Amino acid sequence: MQTSVVAANPVSHKTDLLALLVREGALSDKRFVALNRALAGLLARCASEEDFTGKEGQALSLHSHGKAGPQRILVLGMGREKDEGRTLEQIRSAAARAVRTAKAAGAKTLALSWPAGAAVAAEAQAASEGAALGAYVFDRYKKEKKPLKLARIELLSAAKPASAVVEAARLGSAIAQAVNQARDLVNEPAGRITPRALASAARELAREHGLKCDVLSRTQIKNLGMNLFLAVAQGSVEEPQLVRLSWEPARAKSRPVALVGKAITFDSGGLSLKTAQGMEDMKTDMAGAAAVLAAMRLVAELKPPFPVRAYFGACENLPSGTAYKPGDVIKGKGGLSVEVLNTDAEGRLVLADVLAWAVEEKPAAVIDLATLTGAILVALGPWISGLFSNDDALAAELLAASRATGEPVWRMPLPPEMEELIKSPIADLKNTGGRFGGSINAALFLQHFVGKVPWAHLDIAGPASVDKERGYNPRGGTGAGVRLLAEWIRGRATSSASAPRGR
Ligand code: BES
Ligand code: MN
Ligand code: ZN
Repeated sequence: MQTSVVAANPVSHKTDLLALLVREGALSDKRFVALNRALAGLLARCASEEDFTGKEGQALSLHSHGKAGPQRILVLGMGREKDEGRTLEQIRSAAARAVRTAKAAGAKTLALSWPAGAAVAAEAQAASEGAALGAYVFDRYKKEKKPLKLARIELLSAAKPASAVVEAARLGSAIAQAVNQARDLVNEPAGRITPRALASAARELAREHGLKCDVLSRTQIKNLGMNLFLAVAQGSVEEPQLVRLSWEPARAKSRPVALVGKAITFDSGGLSLKTAQGMEDMKTDMAGAAAVLAAMRLVAELKPPFPVRAYFGACENLPSGTAYKPGDVIKGKGGLSVEVLNTDAEGRLVLADVLAWAVEEKPAAVIDLATLTGAILVALGPWISGLFSNDDALAAELLAASRATGEPVWRMPLPPEMEELIKSPIADLKNTGGRFGGSINAALFLQHFVGKVPWAHLDIAGPASVDKERGYNPRGGTGAGVRLLAEWIRGRATSSASAPRGR
């Protein structure tokens, strides 16, 4: 599937399917009027019969019977204009919907036309992003795969597109490809994506995109003092893998940023075993690592003037004769001892060690992504990530990236008075904090391992994997966090180019 920007009139442009994105009050849209004229009033008649006015989510579909360039026409409502972030999100969703319709209709070519606003480049990026995100299917284990007939997507532009627009459209598909890679990694069963397979994926990505990749084995992990990570790993015969993937610019202008992902390739809960239903989807417990991996691919493309390093500690959390036990007290890399009361609160243990390692390299900021708690689903529902941060400026940057990408994020508190919930009578910390505020006490736990480094934690347990298709997101792995991270890095690269902040 190839996406390009072409200067063409939607009325006469030859294509199998034209998707015409319109605002509420579509009947006065110039493109709608022109198309209606070519179709001798048929479009307006269909619209009035079906009460189509361009409200968000509305769709009108008809055949042109040779009276216009496109064979079929799909008019998609985007509702009223709100802010730019909302507009981009509507374009992404409509583009995804157009692609799904094109696939269902067996179209080979799809042309997209939207009401061009002020930010044409951002709109073109959103359109190509939404189209490629909407085309995603995970069917490699199905005997019956539907071959993709849709070969070409054209983004229609009124005039010859500026090079910035062409470039933005290209970036949009690169971003979607990275997201789709994260989705694949999340959707693959745990039997395939073992810790070693995840490390191989990192190596391969590094080779293809010119990054540096270090993979450390059990002995090296031991030598680094990461006993919390090793404790979680010890119940499985699969070897734990510690991975660092780095982008190092030729002449670094500022300090590195660090990305850390949770990489439990299967979370059974360990001896504090989950219920059968509770572990059905636990192959997705490496979605944080999948997101940082995929984001690194975009980093290689964006080439920021500062180093970006991604870290993850991959292992399985299984019960066995060698598994770590409730009641164990373990001291990890950060130097704090932890009483393990629940072996199912494993993510924070591994992250504690990996965060402690990442901050040793004195990054300007560290962001971790983790499917950390079921409690974040209780707090924020299935689609919103919880954002925890010790730094208001960093939190603001991530909230801005959230608005630009449409990846919903909600800031959560880190109340110092809740620290007492994770104090242990016999160790420095315990790994559970009771039933209430479960995502908050998990985040408070992590905070102990980042020192004074500006840090943000994204609990992506909700949006990392969803049980039904929604907008441009498929059922299953969504690639949550990839676009957010890439946008955050792009923003930092832009601002560090104009005003070096020396951070
Ligand atoms: N990986 C889970 C969190 C999770 C739950 C992700 C549901 C996605 C969907 C995590 O390791 C976990 O088991 N957390 C426990 C913590 C508890 C034992 C303190 C939880 O949320 O129940
Ligand atoms: Mn768990
Ligand atoms: Zn887990």
